[in-house]
Amino acid sequence: MPEYLEVAVEIAREAGALIGQLAQRPREIAYKRPSDLVTDADRRSEALIVERLHSHFPKHAIVAEEGGGQPTGSDYCWYVDPLDGTTNYAHGFPVYCVSLGLACRDEVIAGAVYDPTRDELYAAERGAGAYLNHKRLAVSKTSALSESLLATGFPPFAADHETNIGFFFRLTQLSHGIRRAGSAALDLCSVAAGRFEGFWELKLNSWDKAAGTLMVTEAGGKVTDLAGRPFGLLAEEIFASNGHIHDQAVQIFSEMLAQRVQRA
Ligand code: IPD
Ligand code: CA
Ligand code: CA
Repeated sequence: MPEYLEVAVEIAREAGALIGQLAQRPREIAYKRPSDLVTDADRRSEALIVERLHSHFPKHAIVAEEGGGQPTGSDYCWYVDPLDGTTNYAHGFPVYCVSLGLACRDEVIAGAVYDPTRDELYAAERGAGAYLNHKRLAVSKTSALSESLLATGFPPFAADHETNIGFFFRLTQLSHGIRRAGSAALDLCSVAAGRFEGFWELKLNSWDKAAGTLMVTEAGGKVTDLAGRPFGLLAEEIFASNGHIHDQAVQIFSEMLAQRVQRA
């Protein structure tokens, strides 16, 4: 394992243990915007991660959700979600994780995601596969959308929930169902692990998806936007799948978007 992945795994575990411990106590909740929560655990986890990354890789840039990083100055950039699933965490719903992705010139080269509630550690290095607790991951072999379990998410502040509710409605009819579990990083890991056939979201930040998208591609899956165009770390739209159902779902997204344009 290269040093940067070893360090990412160690830090994800340490930060995950911290948020796991803090979950046992009453949480301090503040609002960034209406319905956009942040807790003391998000901030403490981020402070720990940024401090550790900086001491190991002082020259690397860091983009961290709560603003604690130094986002420029290097080709190497860490994308840090110190607690993905904050709303779940604040309500005591045990679906959350820590996510760290390292990109070189906007291409993700390593990622670690740790789920302290299940003691599940996902790790991937570009070209060397994705692993869950040291077991190699492979996406599911399901090739029919009608036999797929899918996932999506709704960002807390987006005005455009109507479009995604439309996708949610239609794809519920066309598949085994949709899960909206509240942690995009874990949703992507679940695609990599073959638990979900696909995951989409309309407005996802770089720190939500850096590590998870590498898990998917290293497990043999595919990541694009909703129109099937190549994935970009800084783009908002994402559709990740096992590859086999990709075109079928892209077709549905495209048809529905075209209908919306016609109606407008
Ligand atoms: C959120 C979660 C959620 C997704 C949102 C994200 P946070 O991240 O990943 O599943 O739907 O778009 O903002 O705020 O819990 O770190
Ligand atoms: Ca997040
Ligand atoms: Ca977060």
